[in-house]
Amino acid sequence: MTDLPHAMTARASGPLAGAAALPGDKSISHRALILGALAVGETRITGLLEGEDVLATAAAMRAFGAEVTRLGEGVWSVHGVGVGGFAEPAQVIDCGNSGTGVRLIIGAMAATPITATFTGDASLNARPMGRVTDPLAAMGVRVLGRAGGRLPMTVAGAEMPVPLDYRVPVASAQVKSALLLAGLNAPGRTVITEGTATRDHTERMLAGFGAEIAAEESAGGRTITLTGQPELAPQAVAVPRDPSSAAFPVCAALMVPGSEITVPAVSRNPTRAGLYETLSEMGADIAFECPRDEGGEPVADLRVRFGALRGVEVPPGRAASMIDEYPILAALAATAEGSTVMRGVAELRVKESDRIDAMAAGLAACGVTVAQTEDSLTVEGRGADGVPGGATVASRLDHRIAMAFLCLGLATRAPVTVDDARPIETSFPGFAGLMAGLGADTIAPGAA
Ligand code: S3P
Repeated sequence: MTDLPHAMTARASGPLAGAAALPGDKSISHRALILGALAVGETRITGLLEGEDVLATAAAMRAFGAEVTRLGEGVWSVHGVGVGGFAEPAQVIDCGNSGTGVRLIIGAMAATPITATFTGDASLNARPMGRVTDPLAAMGVRVLGRAGGRLPMTVAGAEMPVPLDYRVPVASAQVKSALLLAGLNAPGRTVITEGTATRDHTERMLAGFGAEIAAEESAGGRTITLTGQPELAPQAVAVPRDPSSAAFPVCAALMVPGSEITVPAVSRNPTRAGLYETLSEMGADIAFECPRDEGGEPVADLRVRFGALRGVEVPPGRAASMIDEYPILAALAATAEGSTVMRGVAELRVKESDRIDAMAAGLAACGVTVAQTEDSLTVEGRGADGVPGGATVASRLDHRIAMAFLCLGLATRAPVTVDDARPIETSFPGFAGLMAGLGADTIAPGAA
């Protein structure tokens, strides 16, 4: 990220049209690099997301001894060192803005007797790491961090790792994944249970790399059992396009009258599909064309047409399957008729920013009535009255807050400015260009 904040302004747009070629999935891109580094031999990755978060993970894998090379646009080669083969990094590992990066990498090194120090930007250094490091301590990992389990933090991997049998107390794919990656280098079986199913890319990809892993559903949730110390076989990984990034052009098309867009090859993994269920309840016209499998994930081409939407109640049980989509849903809800209530979303308070508060503050500044509790957000849709806009909103080092308000500004009466759009580069490089390609040439650098 460059040193100086970079404001961006969105103004009312004519109809959006055309096809949105999205970048690769962020979650799968991190995992492809990490699993490639833990396999023996060369993993080839195509469609890798080349956003700042993933590039930080690529640099980290180099620091742990893997050979990571960019061969072309989105095409990367990783020569892995094998499970337990990580070398001790000579420098501090800077994961930038990425919670996924740092938590998964801490897990991946935790059962190897090396020491590494991790840091990040102001957003990442304010986020809780104890949810990963507390269970790892039971494996024999030693950790010294700042108060409240914050980065910068030094992690000394376990000399004699003890496999975990652990129930994850929050719905978090990062925690689940970190503990599974730690279990790779522990002898015997690691058993991780989650109360609510979260994104399952780690499980799918570990199976693809040849690990012995099984998941079982029960009344108490989902239990994953991994047999430790496998030899992972290198893979060709084709990264599908990111459904969380797709949410921005999709919701923008639902906000801007007359729009009709297509979004090719978006992942329809059920653990990521909650937004689309919600949009359909709001009355959105979305068709899923040509369903197929790509890179081990179900995908489809989305066709989205503008139409008036109504507010809905989003149940807490759906939160895990759309956890990254609440900012753009809140923006869309402001344009719908009636109120939208999002419940059971306390986890939003510990994302790149406190997303409940960031959306509530920004929407209020745009003339929308909102209410928040510790774990809910209610947005009173303006419907046919239209959203006033005319505000400068703080992105709070959070890419999804920045993009949500830039999409909203395409449909407000007065322009919406985001004070700092630099964080968008962490997950969606080329966002403004892609939106311009759909006809939204009204997102442009602008004064804060
Ligand atoms: C992610 C898990 C989610 C999500 C994040 C990516 C992952 O975080 O918000 O953007 O790739 O595992 P939590 O595990 O904190 O819910």
